[in-house]
Amino acid sequence: MNLVSQTPSGTTPPMAPAGPERPREARERLIVALDYPSGGEALALVDRLGEEVIWYKVGMELFYAEGAPLVHALTARGKRLFLDLKLHDIPNTMSSALRSLSRLKVGLTTVHVPAGREALLAVAAVARSLPPGEAPGLLGVTRLTSLPAPDPERPWDDVVSLAGLAAACGLYGWIAPAPAARPLRAAHGAGPALICPGIRLPENDRADQVAVGTPEDAREGGADWIVVGRPITQAVDPTAAARDVIRRLA
Ligand code: C5P
Repeated sequence: MNLVSQTPSGTTPPMAPAGPERPREARERLIVALDYPSGGEALALVDRLGEEVIWYKVGMELFYAEGAPLVHALTARGKRLFLDLKLHDIPNTMSSALRSLSRLKVGLTTVHVPAGREALLAVAAVARSLPPGEAPGLLGVTRLTSLPAPDPERPWDDVVSLAGLAAACGLYGWIAPAPAARPLRAAHGAGPALICPGIRLPENDRADQVAVGTPEDAREGGADWIVVGRPITQAVDPTAAARDVIRRLA
């Protein structure tokens, strides 16, 4: 599939995409991924990290296990939520799913960019139609950080192309590997929000991640937020690990 030719070149989205204010302080730039099988384990970490961490990501593992009550428990603790369900379906199903999840009033959520132009335009239209405070910022997942480049000679072309499609369709921003941040900003500018997962410190195990980068790589490349899971959740001292990441984002 040639995704470049799907980009509606020359079209501009009718109005600014809905989404949260971009972070200004280092602490606001960290999103901790709560990849746990139960709410009890997730909330134990949240309570342990206390004021240190503002944003949390709830992904498929935890949401499928605990659903909306877990989202409400986090919101009740004053936390900001990134609900990472990576929607990828036909346009009608994606827009209906977004309408349902908008009731949870999360700050950010994800759709897969390869779902295609019609699906992206449909979800962007739903987000624009929602009352302020209910529309999450829609992030287009470009390439998963666990995947190698399809063309090693041109390692970020696919990410840059998918990001162009997402922006042209009116999405709030992108999910992309940290090493793609600089090429993405160079190609598409500072308008859309950029969130980088696959963050590792030099001493961390890469595990299943391929396209990794440090917090500094992401920040210097122009990322607004970074997502950090295991380097914090599996650290001997998660609070110290979170503080170290935040210091690197300053
Ligand atoms: O533990 P780790 O820091 O590798 O976790 C990364 C988190 O970011 C996981 O929750 C994963 O689902 C998510 N993610 C990713 N790559 C993407 C999109 C999301 O690793 N492209």
